[in-house]
Amino acid sequence: MAVRPLVTLPDPLLKQASAPVRADEPGLKELARDMLDTMYDAPGIGLAAVQIGVMKRVVVIDLSKPKDEDGALAEGEKNPMVFLNPEIIWSSDELRVHEEGCLSIPDYYEAVERPDRVRVRYQDLAGETREIEADGLLATCLQHEIDHLNGVLFIDHLSRLKRERVTKRFAKAARRDTAA
Ligand code: NI
Repeated sequence: MAVRPLVTLPDPLLKQASAPVRADEPGLKELARDMLDTMYDAPGIGLAAVQIGVMKRVVVIDLSKPKDEDGALAEGEKNPMVFLNPEIIWSSDELRVHEEGCLSIPDYYEAVERPDRVRVRYQDLAGETREIEADGLLATCLQHEIDHLNGVLFIDHLSRLKRERVTKRFAKAARRDTAA
């Protein structure tokens, strides 16, 4: 198990696009495992590789709910999903609003409107090309994570005023940390 440090706002890496991966490239399975460990530890429901500083198009998601409301997921409750090179190939006209958060923007939540359903093409860890049609929370989560691979954060979907407010707050906190 390796929990890696999270990349947080205002780290410029979060604005960069990630590179395509191949399922058989060395270290990829370890990367996916570390991403899952980091996500479960946080805890969060999704993570893109850039969030641990690796600029590769890899996303992990687990929407399972722990039995114990405040507890962590037990091993048997986990349903880890790994997506290599995920891309949205269709999205619905109907929209869905969800209160989003991000492990790279700790303790900040805001409602974001996105398509309610998406079809995503990706490769699995065996290198098989697959498609998934998702709705609800999974659709929101996939779009949020695929955004990360393109250097886009959920705050980029908010009004400029809201985005600037949160960006300034995190920039200020980062300056305070380096000054201390
Ligand atoms: Ni995020």
